[in-house]
Amino acid sequence: MTKASARAAVLRRVLDAHNYRYYGLDAPSISDAEYDRLFAELQKLEADHLELRTLDSPTQRVGGAPSKNFASVRHRVPMLSLRKADDESALHDFDRRVRETLGRSTVDYIAEPKLDGLAVSLVYENGVLVQGATRGDGETGEDITANLRTVRALPLRLSGENIPKLVEVRGEVYLPLAGFQRMVEDANARGDKPPVNPRNAAAGSLRQLDPTITARRPLAFFAYGTGISESWTVPHWHLDILAQLRAWGFPVSELIERVRGAEGCLAYFTRIGERRAGLPFDIDGVVFKLDDLAGREELGSVSREPRWACAYKFPAEEAETLLEKIEFQVGRTGALTPVARLKPVFVGGATVSNATLHNLDEVERKDVRAGDTVVVRRAGDVIPEVVRAVLEKRPPGTRPLTLAEDCPACPVCGGAVERLEGEAIARCTNGLSCRAQLHGALIHFVSRKAMDIDGLGEKLLAQLIDIEVIRSPADIYLRLDVTTLAALDRMGDKSAQNLVDAIVASRNTTFGRFLFALGIPVVGETTARDLAAHFGTLAALIEAAERDRPTEQAEKKKDRFRELQSVPDVGPMVAASIAHFFAEPRNRTVIEILVKPCADGGCGIFWPAPKAASIGALTGKSFVITGTLPGLSRDEAAALIEAGGGKVSGSVSAKTDFLLAGEAAGSKLAKAEKLGVPVIDVANLRKLIDG
Ligand code: IVH
Repeated sequence: MTKASARAAVLRRVLDAHNYRYYGLDAPSISDAEYDRLFAELQKLEADHLELRTLDSPTQRVGGAPSKNFASVRHRVPMLSLRKADDESALHDFDRRVRETLGRSTVDYIAEPKLDGLAVSLVYENGVLVQGATRGDGETGEDITANLRTVRALPLRLSGENIPKLVEVRGEVYLPLAGFQRMVEDANARGDKPPVNPRNAAAGSLRQLDPTITARRPLAFFAYGTGISESWTVPHWHLDILAQLRAWGFPVSELIERVRGAEGCLAYFTRIGERRAGLPFDIDGVVFKLDDLAGREELGSVSREPRWACAYKFPAEEAETLLEKIEFQVGRTGALTPVARLKPVFVGGATVSNATLHNLDEVERKDVRAGDTVVVRRAGDVIPEVVRAVLEKRPPGTRPLTLAEDCPACPVCGGAVERLEGEAIARCTNGLSCRAQLHGALIHFVSRKAMDIDGLGEKLLAQLIDIEVIRSPADIYLRLDVTTLAALDRMGDKSAQNLVDAIVASRNTTFGRFLFALGIPVVGETTARDLAAHFGTLAALIEAAERDRPTEQAEKKKDRFRELQSVPDVGPMVAASIAHFFAEPRNRTVIEILVKPCADGGCGIFWPAPKAASIGALTGKSFVITGTLPGLSRDEAAALIEAGGGKVSGSVSAKTDFLLAGEAAGSKLAKAEKLGVPVIDVANLRKLIDG
């Protein structure tokens, strides 16, 4: 592997992880600016070395994977992303390219504020809203029709003339600042964690499974474009599209203007910048779009970014303040993260009093010390960060942070702290005996993609830890009954019963989920699933982890963990973490209790035994899934097929054995019929599986 390809691989994984945090969890852990920097580095590597541009690279897609709570919606016209221009010269480059391709000396752009919310697609049939979806990864989003219907700013039925048979309207759902403020106050009054910023609050509101919750959120909407349409003469100019959208009853920003050339764009940007602080909503920049739609066709797009539009963002906001002290926070794997406690300062639209310092290497590299005046950056969303210390203002008597002096023991449990050689991260070694680790581990254990125990939230877990009912994940199954739960704060008999039911139901799981739930450091959902598929049983995995323990000789040859590394995406670091985890007697004890049958005093967690691929009823058969399946998500249908030994692929060809079709099946159904591929429904599928 060359240096460039190794770096590209690292960047892809890091970006994927952050993408997932941002889009999948709504819990970003790095600033937009830092993300953009890594993204740009990868883009450059891929441009310099074309062979590194893989199909699965984050540069090749628009966002993150849809979460599996909502049905998936395939966008018939992909929802594109925007390329960014970071400075004036990049904007001039953009404009020059447009002019050169079109062979014109000057072009007009439509300048629109870039709203900081969530992009959605709204499909109207004969003027009636029939489907609303998130952007998702640009190809496939989530069906959030029920939630979008609650957003009062968007019409459920188009008004006026000229109503097409089919039209898809696109725009941004956002939370005005006043509404955001209200949500923060409500959350504080209830003692809940308030949303970090308007974007996250909007995203969280739209992705509620219960639309009545969305309905209570003061969401707003601006339309900025259209997607697919039928029997509608699409105007030649973007400004006319916007006028039509207004006429149909959509809110369209009053700030939108037509401007001429790069100079016009820059002048608009300055004007908007001056008005930004007084606007009733957050904007994070400006979008410039070619007004002429024929020109757009000619320009096309690269890597999901149209060549006819660009985003020009406001720089991240920075402010200086005093760093009063540095404290350490303990994560679920014991990782100790240095956090700067700041003299509160107003920056980027919010008061900031804490900022992450990421890890010890970062603190050392930036040479940030308690007592320093520091520059703090808050880039719209995410956790604020300390950019640098202002050395000219450093008072005498400060000293660099050291683990020995500043974190000699775990700040939560007093346990020993260890920092392995070459690692930036120091950890508390007390495992689940450390309250902070136990709490973090439990939150992860019950989370949706792990054991999926609905109703066991952070606060409830904290309470249960405090009263010492729960000391390990196993206690969830062993010690929580209706009587214990109903005695807790804010818990009625009914919710106690529901929770107990959810706990019982969660015992029936999959091997992959169980592995993920264990919270092995650096083993994410996908790796857990791959490990499960590769090893089939817990015993086989543990055996491999043990066999793999490095002997001195293997260590010398750097020949470690070969068996674990044969699993996709498991490299030396992940393998080492897995082996280390299973070598820990405390972990083994907990695992044993978790999977021991209830009759023997265990928690009774179980999963279907792996089917030998060669004996499934669907072995060798290839399936394609389309349309909305009754009572089954696509992921679930795919899991059924794969469990039966079949394969699922994305497109219909002569090699497809069956098309599993639900309601509103479209082009795939037509193609299957044309090729004579048998079309089945869910009932047929179940019959096939049962032989
Ligand atoms: S146009 C090519 N217009 O920015 C067309 N997007 O990076 C792409 N956004 O997902 C979308 N305000 O969430 C467009 N006036 C605006 C926008 C806007 C905000 C967001 C939108 C999109 C992202 C693209």
